Amino acid sequence: AMVEKGNFHHFMQKEIFEQPTVVAQTLRSYLRPLERKVALPQIDFDISAVDRITIVACGTSYYAAMVAKYWFESFARVPVDIDFASEFRYREPILTKGGLALFISQSGETADTLAALRHCKAEGQTIAVVVNVPTSTMAREADLLLPTHAGPEIGVASTKAFTCQLAVLAALAAHFAVKKGRMSAEEEAQIVDHLLEAPAALNAALDHDEDIKAMAPLVAPARDVLYLGRGPDFPLALEGALKLKEISYIHAEGYASGEMKHGPIALIDEHVPVIVLAPSGPLFEKTVSNMQEVAARGGRIVLISDAEGLAEAGEGCMATIEMPKVHPLIAPLVYAVPVQLLAYHVACVKGTDVDQPRNLAKSVTVE
Ligand code: G6P
Repeated sequence: AMVEKGNFHHFMQKEIFEQPTVVAQTLRSYLRPLERKVALPQIDFDISAVDRITIVACGTSYYAAMVAKYWFESFARVPVDIDFASEFRYREPILTKGGLALFISQSGETADTLAALRHCKAEGQTIAVVVNVPTSTMAREADLLLPTHAGPEIGVASTKAFTCQLAVLAALAAHFAVKKGRMSAEEEAQIVDHLLEAPAALNAALDHDEDIKAMAPLVAPARDVLYLGRGPDFPLALEGALKLKEISYIHAEGYASGEMKHGPIALIDEHVPVIVLAPSGPLFEKTVSNMQEVAARGGRIVLISDAEGLAEAGEGCMATIEMPKVHPLIAPLVYAVPVQLLAYHVACVKGTDVDQPRNLAKSVTVE
C-alpha cells in the first residue's frame, strides 16, 4: 500500500511523530502489562546457558546496539561484544560455542550485516535478529525473530525504527536478566512499568517541537557541531551527530562527555555549537563540569535536559530544550526525539532534501 505523508511536510517528520504510537505497538508484543512481565516470542534455546552476546549492525542500528550493550551487561551481567558489520567480518572475531549473535537492522537487507549473520551461522552461533521488515532476508534466516513494529520507514535517515529497536532490546535484556537469575520479579515489574511510560514520555518530548524549530536557525550556519552524552546517552550523542550529517550536511561529531578534553575541546570556539544530552541524575554533575570547560572557551551550548537539570545548569546556554523527567532506562528513547527534530529543523532551514539526502541510500545492499 502507498504510504502517504498526510499533514506532514516530509516522511521523516511524520515518522518522528509516529514514535509514541509505534513504540507502544512494539512494546505490546514484548510485555504483559497486567502481569507486569516481559513476554518474548517462543525461544527454543536455553537463555540461561548464553554466556556471551555478539551484536552486529550498521548506521543507526549500530547505535541501538551500543545502548543495548549497557542494558545486557548491567541487567543480565552477560558480556556483550558489539561491532559494525563491515568491521566484524574481517577481524576474525572469537565466537565460542553456545554464543548468541544478535543482528539489528531496519531493512533486514543491509549487505554487510547479512554477510556477518551468515558467517555467525556457519560458526554455529544462535542467530537472533531485531528487524523491521518482516519479509526480509534477515528475518527469514534467523533462529529467533524479534520484529520491531515501526511500520514502513520511508525517510532515508532512520528515526522510528531506532526507538522501536531500543524498545525490543530493553525487553530482551530484561528477559535475559530474569532467565539468568539476575532480576527479581519485582525488578522485572518495575522495568515493565518504566517501558510502558515511554510512549507518553515520547509525546512529552514531541511537545517541544516548536522550541526546537525556533532554535534551529542558531545551529544551521555552523560548519561543525559537537554532541556530548554519557553512559547509555553517549550513543545518542553519536546518533544526533549522524542525523545532522545525514540530512543537513553539517559536519558533526558525537563524543563521550568525559572524553571531550582529550581532543575535541581543541575545536571549541564560538562557532561550534555543542549539544549536550544530559538527563538529571547521578552523572549530571560530571556533565556540568564538562559544560563549564566548553563555556570557558567561548563555546555555545545547547543543553537538552529535564526541568531539574535545566534549573541547575541551563543558565548561560545558547539554548535549552526541555525533556520530561524519565527513568534512566527510557532516556535513550526519549532523547532520540530532540536530536531527530533538531537535525530535521536544521535541514529545513538549509533547504536540503530531507527524505532523500544526497549520496545516501535507505538500505545499503552492496558491500
Ligand atoms: C543506511 C541508512 C541508515 C541505516 C543504515 C543501516 O545507511 O541510510 O538510516 O541506519 O543503512 O540500515 P539497516 O536497515 O540495516 O538498519
